[in-house]
Amino acid sequence: MASTGLATSTKKKLDIVVVGGSLGGLCISLALLPLGHNITILERNPTPLLHNQGAGIVAGGDTLAFFKRYDRCRRDIAVSSQRRQYLNKDGEIVHKEDMVQNMTSWDLVYYILRANLDGVESDYCDVPQPVEGRGEVRHLHGHNVTGVCEKGDRVQVSYTTTDGKEGSIEVDFIIGADGPSSTVRSVLQPDVKRTYAGYVALRGTVPEDEVSSKTCEAFSERFTFFHAHGIQILAYLIPGHNGTLEPGKRLINFVYYTNFPSPSLDDPSPELVELMTDIDGKRHRITMPPGRTDPKAWEKQREIAKERLPPQFAEIVRATNKPFVQTITDVISPENEFLGGKVVLIGDALAGFRPHTVASTSQAAFDAMILADMIEGKVERKEWKRQTMAYARAIQKRGVDMGRRSQFEDLPLEEHIRDRNLASKPREEEEWASSE
Ligand SMILES: Cc1cc2nc3c(=O)[nH]c(=O)nc-3n(C[C@H](O)[C@H](O)[C@H](O)COP(=O)(O)OP(=O)(O)OC[C@H]3O[C@@H](n4cnc5c(N)ncnc54)[C@H](O)[C@@H]3O)c2cc1C
Ligand SMILES: *[C@@H]1O[C@H](CO)[C@@H](O)[C@H](O)[C@H]1NC(C)=O
Ligand SMILES: *[C@@H]1O[C@H](CO)[C@@H](O)[C@H](O)[C@H]1NC(C)=O
Ligand SMILES: *[C@@H]1O[C@H](CO)[C@@H](O)[C@H](O)[C@H]1NC(C)=O
Repeated sequence: MASTGLATSTKKKLDIVVVGGSLGGLCISLALLPLGHNITILERNPTPLLHNQGAGIVAGGDTLAFFKRYDRCRRDIAVSSQRRQYLNKDGEIVHKEDMVQNMTSWDLVYYILRANLDGVESDYCDVPQPVEGRGEVRHLHGHNVTGVCEKGDRVQVSYTTTDGKEGSIEVDFIIGADGPSSTVRSVLQPDVKRTYAGYVALRGTVPEDEVSSKTCEAFSERFTFFHAHGIQILAYLIPGHNGTLEPGKRLINFVYYTNFPSPSLDDPSPELVELMTDIDGKRHRITMPPGRTDPKAWEKQREIAKERLPPQFAEIVRATNKPFVQTITDVISPENEFLGGKVVLIGDALAGFRPHTVASTSQAAFDAMILADMIEGKVERKEWKRQTMAYARAIQKRGVDMGRRSQFEDLPLEEHIRDRNLASKPREEEEWASSE
């Protein structure tokens, strides 16, 4: 790919558009501002703050490294788990091992990034003092990006606003952080498709002080799993309301994978249609927002949970009244730069991982840090591309393998454990880090 002015003119202050104001878009904006560049974030969501889906994320190495480097709120973000354990159907521990893992919540990460980036006040953290010499940031919501194209040595992004107006902005550089169904990607790589993996994740949270003591014990500072034919469920503690880490006020977060055979998302089976049709009869293609699930469809899942899960897991699934349903999909772009390097994809827009990898937020954080280093001239363009694409490919493939084995093969417990442990290897230990 032809080299652009971007790699060489690092002293110049660039005008940059970031498409998408979720974790990926916020991370890259926060990493670029100290370099003096001016950022405009275009987020299609009509409200100034994204609605949290109340779910947990694992704070992997790159997420923690990002916070160490850029977060100036400096509050603790994670609940740590000291041990992994596996239950049998009767709820007895059949395997355990020591392993420290840090878990946080999507909303806490979001509000901390917003406090740092554009001074959003919340009960999650204090807003840090402004930094001198930073570029300017404009955060525009209700701006739905519809296209990107080249304009000489600049690029143009077009959008429609919530009130129906059309507009466009011409800048030096566009970063697509617009998630797994990325519009930027679909304009530049129309053949890349997001495909259904044959199962869904039912997700939810329950306050730790609202469950029986036996159930609370199973999940307190433990990362707990259960596997059965076509089913996998895991649970761990995450911060509670307003990001509190106070014991007794945290949330038990579960991810319950269950098979829903269907030819595709465009041709859904009747069972998938039932699960993905909300309380007002509206069909959702990929995610069902929390609390919108039809109570009849959820009641069915609650019954299945009682029959098939260990008692501790059945209790938390059954206690959830605002479940969130996520169909599991695969997508990866073969390229991360376009139009002579003036458009770049990061995070889920580049590669949407299956949740088993617990790496989506870490990928967004990693992509942001190394892209900022490349733009600053600290990392060569070739090296930036190699590392970013290697991360995307390795973890995307790993998620497909893990999901296939876990949901569609009847593995002995040792193999589930082996797959899981492989997934928590730090990125530095990956083979790709040292070779092409
Ligand atoms: C509201 C929300 C809640 C989430 N909650 C969780 C959670 O609880 N647990 C978890 O593991 N993951 C969650 N995720 C996913 C998680 O953020 C990502 O997997 C990961 O952090 C990578 O982030 P990303 O910014 O690359 O992609 P995403 O988080 O998917 O963000 C993409 C953003 O781009 C915006 N966008 C898309 N198309 C356009 C367009 N054409 N024009 C303008 N904007 C556009 C979207 O509205 C979205 O805000 C959530 C995502 C969102 C958007
Ligand atoms: C967990 O978080 C703590 C505190 O932030 C940190 O010291 C530790 O290295 C983290 N451990 C892992 C495995 O991420
Ligand atoms: C954004 O625009 C696309 C068409 O490009 C449309 O399908 C979609 O519904 C719009 N989304 C929002 C939130 O306006
Ligand atoms: C979150 O903070 C707000 C404002 O301080 C408070 O009103 C609310 O009760 C808090 N929520 C919880 C669950 O603590």
